[in-house]
Amino acid sequence: MKKLAPSILSADFSCLGEQVAWIERGGADLIHVDVMDGHFVPNISFGATVMKSLVGKTALPFDVHLMIENPDKYAADFITPNTQYITVHQEACTHLHRSIQHIKSLGVKAGVSLNPATPVDTLEYILEDLDLILIMSVNPGFGGQAFIPATLRKVEELVRLRQERGLSFEIEIDGGATLDNIEKLLNAGVDIAVAGSAVFGKSDIEAETRKFMNIIK
Ligand code: DX5
Ligand code: ZN
Repeated sequence: MKKLAPSILSADFSCLGEQVAWIERGGADLIHVDVMDGHFVPNISFGATVMKSLVGKTALPFDVHLMIENPDKYAADFITPNTQYITVHQEACTHLHRSIQHIKSLGVKAGVSLNPATPVDTLEYILEDLDLILIMSVNPGFGGQAFIPATLRKVEELVRLRQERGLSFEIEIDGGATLDNIEKLLNAGVDIAVAGSAVFGKSDIEAETRKFMNIIK
């Protein structure tokens, strides 16, 4: 089952609840929550307080993408009744195995994200422990950037590895997804597609979500 995870990074925060209601009505599966600390990535977005303001306002699960240093220190802050995934960056974790076990101990699914230049090989000894692998298809830090084509090869590599090893992690792609390339991403093996500006940057967010869902389902 393929899923769409619109990223609220591109939403209008002055009416976030309303914006999220639109993607929910449009049929989105998850809310992608981009947390940036201004250290690991060159931008600051928002923290757990903003995300928690949506609890009770939406039935959609949260897909938390921590683009932060020292994620072990903050992961627990993002646990809510809606939280389904917490993903950390391979490049930000000195003790990745420990970070993944920590997220699992919090009772949610654990993911690892790879920056565009980070190879899939770096996950060789942790693949079995992962629920999700998030392939960054732009350099993390900003919405609205252009898709980096070479990153799609990592999706294909992961599909192969998953089959060879009999594993069941999900594959997510994040950055530069649009109505024009979404079909190609799904065909390469993407299970969860993140879309920020292509959904929240449009005037009719519900209609835009529905256009994605018509292709995805
Ligand atoms: C980038 C974030 C992405 C971003 C996607 O650092 O992780 O989730 O919001 O935005 P678009 O879809 O506009 O590239
Ligand atoms: Zn993201």
